[in-house]
Amino acid sequence: MDKIEKIFANNKAWVAEKLSVNPNYFENLGKGQSPEFLYIGCSDSRVTAEDLMGVQPGEVFIHRNIANMVISIDLNVMSVLNYAVRHLKVNHIIVCGHYACGGVKAAMQSADMGILNPWLRNIRDVYRLHKEELNAITDEEKKYDRLIELNVQEQCVNLIKTAAVQQAHKERGLMVHGWVFDIHTGRLIDLKIDFPKILHEIMEIYKLD
Ligand code: CO
Repeated sequence: MDKIEKIFANNKAWVAEKLSVNPNYFENLGKGQSPEFLYIGCSDSRVTAEDLMGVQPGEVFIHRNIANMVISIDLNVMSVLNYAVRHLKVNHIIVCGHYACGGVKAAMQSADMGILNPWLRNIRDVYRLHKEELNAITDEEKKYDRLIELNVQEQCVNLIKTAAVQQAHKERGLMVHGWVFDIHTGRLIDLKIDFPKILHEIMEIYKLD
């Protein structure tokens, strides 16, 4: 069996397993979704959103890209955000980074990455914003881990800069969370982003509603 055939065999086994527990499983899935969470994570093959959160189909709306970025002119992430917040009415948005992130690593190096340059530039901007703190860390691994955490924090800030998030927070108390998946232990770490404080600071300049 080749690798693609194996996937279809896996799928068949998965369908059988689901139906053995609940014969209406897929019929119910087909009726629609009302997820409580929007998850924005990294495309990294080791960071499987549903698995690490222990959630089932229908529970989380998901967007993944290189280094879990929230870039205001990226039509893809902005479409996902607006659909999730304004139509699906999620109440929690999670930005989840992970240690050993290749995207963040690439942004810490002096190399021409071609078409990836403008994408990774946004991570270099995070470094510049937090240059003092990062340059004070002498251990390269610790600096790398900290940039991963600060990148998550800044992507949360980018979410809070959007009209969709500002309005949904005011209307129904939507919250933004910053997490890091520790790939070495499997643990999820809550960075405890101070949402009200960030919102308050952001509003001086970025208020849209
Ligand atoms: Co990554």
